[in-house]
Amino acid sequence: MKILVIGSGGREHALCWRIAKSPELTRLYCAPGNPGTASCAENVPIPVSDLDALVAFAREHAIDLTVVGPEAPLCAGIVDRFAAHGLRVAGPALAAARMEGSKAFAKAFMVRHGIPTSEFAVFEDRERAEAYIAAHPRARVVKADGLAAGKGVVVCRSAAEARAAARKILDGAFGAAGRQIVIEDRLEGEEASFMAISDGERIWALAGSQDHKAVFDGDSGPNTGGMGAYSPAPILGTLEEQVMEQVMIPAVRGLAAEGMPYRGVLYAGLMIDRARRIQVLEFNCRLGDPETQPVLVRLASDLVPYLAGAAEGRLPERPPAWDPRAAVAVVMASGGYPGPSIQGLPIEGIAEAEALPDVHVFHGSTSRDSAGRLLTAGGRVLAVTALGADVAAARRRAYEAVER
Ligand code: GLY
Repeated sequence: MKILVIGSGGREHALCWRIAKSPELTRLYCAPGNPGTASCAENVPIPVSDLDALVAFAREHAIDLTVVGPEAPLCAGIVDRFAAHGLRVAGPALAAARMEGSKAFAKAFMVRHGIPTSEFAVFEDRERAEAYIAAHPRARVVKADGLAAGKGVVVCRSAAEARAAARKILDGAFGAAGRQIVIEDRLEGEEASFMAISDGERIWALAGSQDHKAVFDGDSGPNTGGMGAYSPAPILGTLEEQVMEQVMIPAVRGLAAEGMPYRGVLYAGLMIDRARRIQVLEFNCRLGDPETQPVLVRLASDLVPYLAGAAEGRLPERPPAWDPRAAVAVVMASGGYPGPSIQGLPIEGIAEAEALPDVHVFHGSTSRDSAGRLLTAGGRVLAVTALGADVAAARRRAYEAVER
């Protein structure tokens, strides 16, 4: 099978690394990829936003299966474009990708299908948004409706902060993505990431995980898309069945009933409170980054039949199997992240880190200069991922590798 992976981050490096192990693979491409994906796939210099060029490449090279990493091409309709040319993609069509592409759509969908989520309201008008904030003391989370590169959610501590966030987004801080906002109740508890793969009907849970959002050690500093992740997530413990029954199965059934069968990975960001009640914070229409890195190093099954099965509407009859050990990914970021970050710094020691047992170093934003030296090329540079008997052991091993 000829497979094309779309994207250029740590998630896509982990995907390529896993797919490259499959006996079903004949050739693997990654567009545009990074120096990490170059070690297991052939990089193709096409940006993820150039859907025409991606379609043309897939047709020309008779690609059997395309796997889309990031949300932007999914929410721009890449699956529909590929399908129009008879090309198979593991990922949801545009209508179903709105689970991530429109927060207002996702919230209304959750209400229609009885999926637990916080109280909310949708606004286009500043004054009405401010009146809602004043009248609802718990309504302190303000979200841009559309995609905002992970920056469109503001969790506020006061009404004044919420008003300022609503104003900023409606005034155009995120362009068209902020024409509408969702204001919702702030929830307390611990967050976890739950990903499952579906073919539109059948759905299999992937191993649970949790990402680490704060940029600095000790949970301090600005929020990021994820400075690391671990799997399994102890907070999910025995809740997996409940999450499937209350969240994932109703979501997949609801999407199918509404005429948008979901084929790909559905990601639910969950809040779990002290009483172990589950609420959905958000849905994503793809694998998480960096959750994918520890989850895929624990995968004991061949990934390709699951990806191809999702694309074709016939997932394998058995769920994927998992290594019982835990995995931790520590993201090494460049100075300045999550703001503008320092680029062009040399990176050394990857081979030494990977010489440690059960350590995998996945590239995020890296590049090579004309002399072939590896350099930082953005904020999240490497996801240093290690397995261990439990999360604490995996974390010790991951940091040992970071030191290299
Ligand atoms: N780690 C969060 C995300 O992938 O959206």
